[in-house]
Amino acid sequence: SAPLRTHAAGRGKFIGAALATGQLANEATYRTTAATEFSQVTPENALKWESTEPSQGQFTFSGGDAIVAFATQNNMQVHGHTLVWHNQTPGWVQSLGASAMRAAMQNHISQVVGHYANNPAVVSWDVVNEVFDDSGNLRTSFWYNTLGQSYIADAFRAARAADPDAKLCINDYNTEGINAKSTAIYNLVSSLRQQGVPVDCVGFQSHLAIQYGFPSDFQQNLQRFAALGVQVRITELDVRMVMPRDATKDATQATYYRNVVNACLAVTACAGVTIWGFTDKYSWVPDTFSGQGAALIYDENYQKKPSYTAVHDALAGG
Ligand code: G3I
Repeated sequence: SAPLRTHAAGRGKFIGAALATGQLANEATYRTTAATEFSQVTPENALKWESTEPSQGQFTFSGGDAIVAFATQNNMQVHGHTLVWHNQTPGWVQSLGASAMRAAMQNHISQVVGHYANNPAVVSWDVVNEVFDDSGNLRTSFWYNTLGQSYIADAFRAARAADPDAKLCINDYNTEGINAKSTAIYNLVSSLRQQGVPVDCVGFQSHLAIQYGFPSDFQQNLQRFAALGVQVRITELDVRMVMPRDATKDATQATYYRNVVNACLAVTACAGVTIWGFTDKYSWVPDTFSGQGAALIYDENYQKKPSYTAVHDALAGG
């Protein structure tokens, strides 16, 4: 049957995967599967600050360029991840004073977005990532503690100046349902847009777990953001489980994947769905949640799981 990307294109959506430079360089099955099935790539780590500007003013794009070249060869688009985050950002940034930190942020955005601005494969960016905590307050990161909340608007303005055509996104997790955190993002995006700050899109990471239930108001939540006039997208989908896998857990997981794809399909402003990896051979989940895993749509031997079939059939309209 046709690959995921063929069905997604037929529905006017992208289907994406986060990809890692090491596996792309070293593993043919990884490359072939990614190129066959997906129409969009998010570099999993290669465009983060620690990768692109490890020391001040010293930019390295080797990892990002390798992923963009792979995407270009395979007619895939690239979603840039991520410009301003509190993780994977070098210590030199974190220890700057306010005016130097603001200038460093603006320069970083200008250089990184500018590097890809004329590359037609690179279409969108996570400008700020995870700026709220789960209670809906702005996260007290070094960014906030040093600059106050103005860093968010400044980051979007710098990104727009560097690439007027890229879609500029705010991205977060635990925002799939209607809750304090998603409402805080909703209010921020509404307010920023009223002030003319160029926020084009809202990303819902969607790191789900079968043991916590599926957020039943996912589609309704996407729809309320769409009503603000922004694009929405599923940016980092995975559905973990307590190990070991079994057929019952796989079936539950498959329903979550299907529900997410169907929610995006039902919302015109939803551009597509990106999965945070694709094979259980490589996933952040077991490193972070001890005893959990099997969160993706291929097993560790690149065999398609029920979750693959669920995504496939949803995209195919089944
Ligand atoms: O590259 C080094 C390697 O040299 C070293 O030997 C090894 C030893 O631990 O670490 C390697 O770096 C790891 C890096 O991934 C690349 O593989 C880091 O330890 C590890 O912490 C890092 O994890 C990434 C994580 O973000 C860190 O913040 C995951 O791959 C990545 O999937 C994850 O992605 C985040 C999104 O960016 C934002 N949303 C949540 C999502 C999941 O945490």
